[in-house]
Amino acid sequence: MKEEQSPENKHSYWLDTINLEPFEKLKQSTETDVGIVGGGITGLTAAYMLAKQNKKVTLIDADNLLHGTTGYTTAKITAQHGLIYDELIQHFGEDNASLYYKAAMEAKDIIENHISELNIDCDFKQEDAYIYTNDNKYVEKMKTEAKAYEKLGIPGSLADNMPLDIPHKAALVMHNQAQFHPLKYLAALIKACVDAGVAIYENTTATDVEYNKHPAIITKDGSRIRCRYVIIASHFPFYDGQGFYPTRLYAERAYVVGIKAKKKFPGGMYINAETPTRSVRSTGEQSDDLWLIVGENHKTGQGETMNNHYDALEQFADKNFGISEVLYRWSTQDLTTLDKVPYIGQITKSQHNVFVATGYRKWGMTNGTIAAKIISDAILDRSNDYATFFTPARRQADPFARKFVSVNADVAKHLVKGKLDNTKDDFSELHVNEAVVTRIDGRRTGVFKDANNQIHMVDTTCTHLGCEVAWNDAEQSWDCPCHGSRFSYTGEVIEGPAKRPLKKIDRID
Ligand code: FES
Repeated sequence: MKEEQSPENKHSYWLDTINLEPFEKLKQSTETDVGIVGGGITGLTAAYMLAKQNKKVTLIDADNLLHGTTGYTTAKITAQHGLIYDELIQHFGEDNASLYYKAAMEAKDIIENHISELNIDCDFKQEDAYIYTNDNKYVEKMKTEAKAYEKLGIPGSLADNMPLDIPHKAALVMHNQAQFHPLKYLAALIKACVDAGVAIYENTTATDVEYNKHPAIITKDGSRIRCRYVIIASHFPFYDGQGFYPTRLYAERAYVVGIKAKKKFPGGMYINAETPTRSVRSTGEQSDDLWLIVGENHKTGQGETMNNHYDALEQFADKNFGISEVLYRWSTQDLTTLDKVPYIGQITKSQHNVFVATGYRKWGMTNGTIAAKIISDAILDRSNDYATFFTPARRQADPFARKFVSVNADVAKHLVKGKLDNTKDDFSELHVNEAVVTRIDGRRTGVFKDANNQIHMVDTTCTHLGCEVAWNDAEQSWDCPCHGSRFSYTGEVIEGPAKRPLKKIDRID
């Protein structure tokens, strides 16, 4: 995945405050016990857990480690994943809803254990987590959710007051949650992996898995990583294995602004229940701490003018906390499954040694950590209480059939609508750093003018499954509304599932 840069994008705070040593690209074929694709929290945690048990591990990343979703997270370590517990009880029953909570809390324990085992200084801090609302419709839902907490024995309840001074009609607290600096934590895990003998390669793109008795990961350059087990921790699975993941996942973008506020941060982590989403945490409790304001979620490729999302977050922050300085703006993308529970486990029932972990619904710190534990346990032949609940094979019992239809109808709509939608015939008036979609020789063409007045033209047909990409002006990328692939203005893949670049159309200077 390439670094997301735009004129206003000052990068992620996490990436800005850490030094990561580079790793070489894989240049030859190799053999290993476990081949891991994806150097984010899932892949690195699994690598560490398995290497500690004397497994030979090779981990590759298409870009640099931690430059995918993990580097752009909000980094809340919490089981409070929005208003989810009443819904889980309704759809999966109390026992499974309880498992979901316990899995997230076990992830928090795992992180804490790693911190103490490796003596990591990563600004880890216990915090209470709050959901609040200003919408009457959600006040009732919060009461129902509070009852779900009671049923499941989750420490928390409706709260009369929140430490954060912000208008709200109701608030729900979950105690004993935490936050940290995710990349300080993971930088230490990378070092521990290297010390334990994990072979790590960057800028090495996996394109396929050859599935035999021993699977092999095939890279873009033709190298093969022959292994006993494969872990696909690449966000959108780069290999589908006939698991039909494009029909079972959808991508959403969210935006983050990092500000210095006039008020002192009172502690706690916050998110509202309604849309537009507003999530607030700080990097600490000093008067000069950075406040992270997150939200404005929308399906990838379906937002309006993207810079408006940053502006909306800043207006919210200024109105409620008073902005003295805006230091960071970044955006991120995450995947949601049809039933909101991540897919963790064997990619399909028949491919018992290829594992996948995806669909974290923006709660990647806990979901990624527990995914690493579930998959490591499977490889180490250990039982795991959560494995059955999270298995991707639960599709047959999916209670969200209607949603399945609606997600696919949405994809179909974008497949068709994208082919027919409005294009502009004239791009002579295009400004620098602007893009437009036009037709050239009848072909739908994305045209972008760069800072040197050079024009870059690409065929807007997504190379994954043929939807039409749309321009994202905040990140200066072509984004696909169907499964979230993203491409640079020159057409290079920023984020899969697409593996091939957009077709270039002859450039006009
Ligand atoms: Fe699937 Fe574009 S990401 S069609």
